[in-house]
Amino acid sequence: MSTIILGIESSCDDTSAAVIKDGVLLSNVVASQAVHESYGGVVPELASRAHQQNIVPVVNEALKRANITKEELSAVAFTRGPGLMGSLLVGVSFAKGFARSLNIPMVDVNHLNGHVLAHFIKEKDEATEHPNFPFLCLLVSGGNSQIILVKAYNDMTVLGQTIDDAAGEAIDKCSKVMGLGYPGGPIIDRLARQGNPKAFAFNKPQIPGYDYSFSGLKTSFLYSLRDYLKEDPDFIEHHKNDLAASLEATVVDILMSKLRKVAKDYKIKEVAIAGGVSANNGLRNSFREHAEKYGWKIYIPKFSYTTDNAAMIAITGYYKYLDKDFCPMDLPAFSRVTM
Ligand code: KG4
Repeated sequence: MSTIILGIESSCDDTSAAVIKDGVLLSNVVASQAVHESYGGVVPELASRAHQQNIVPVVNEALKRANITKEELSAVAFTRGPGLMGSLLVGVSFAKGFARSLNIPMVDVNHLNGHVLAHFIKEKDEATEHPNFPFLCLLVSGGNSQIILVKAYNDMTVLGQTIDDAAGEAIDKCSKVMGLGYPGGPIIDRLARQGNPKAFAFNKPQIPGYDYSFSGLKTSFLYSLRDYLKEDPDFIEHHKNDLAASLEATVVDILMSKLRKVAKDYKIKEVAIAGGVSANNGLRNSFREHAEKYGWKIYIPKFSYTTDNAAMIAITGYYKYLDKDFCPMDLPAFSRVTM
């Protein structure tokens, strides 16, 4: 008998549902929320309201595209956290009601594990190469910057993580200071392509071990800009490409230097990247250069699986389902979860 998993993701500002049959992705529907753009960031209350409006049509569409009836489902997998509580509650409550009405098990998924296992999403008739265990995964998103040792589908250890801001958060905030739009990541990426990465130097953190810190960089960027603006009120307009390129290069350098250290200490050459910031061209280029220089075998996810999506929740749920790792009906949502 086939194993068919419905995955549900609602941790931030994307409502998503996906169907996976015997490990193969049949559908992945994502409804993004444009409502936050004018606020320069995600507004939690608006996000949870939009999830409420989107969840039923998104799930229906995912089942329709997969050509699966709800009675055929083996289990419902959902993001239990981390994320915004009001957003998570919509997905968690929906998953509970749906699973109970169908009398099928529920599988809770840590959103961060989902980002890592996005590397195992298999599309029909597609020969994608997946990482071999054990591998390292640099997970960089709007809310997280972590280096994870992945020993098996359900066995991951965080070796290093940010002690303050995430890489994506720092880029987004610097972009906001420059008066660019939201989210800043893709804008900085685009401007950086035409700029000089060595034009400006910003502070890099000096933290021992494998942890990251990005709040100092943010402050350094802000103070430098404030000084330059005193001399030239149009400084940003005149130098935005160079500012973007230098900021991006600093973030990439911070991220890669710790990853390099972990790879060396753990003697691991299978290395993956995941999360929204892994879409960044500067990071992807540096990752490829590292592969060449250090003999790493690298894995870069398909663009659509770098940002939040339910396909990664469904694939993680699928492997947990195979282990019969189900969750009780009274499991709450968790806004903060570690691995
Ligand atoms: O948090 P995340 O994995 O998922 C979603 O919320 O969908 O990704 C969002 C983060 C934001 O900080 C955004 O600015 C960043 O990923 N991002 C990028 C790029 N595309 C998205 N950062 C740098 N370069 C990009 N091309």
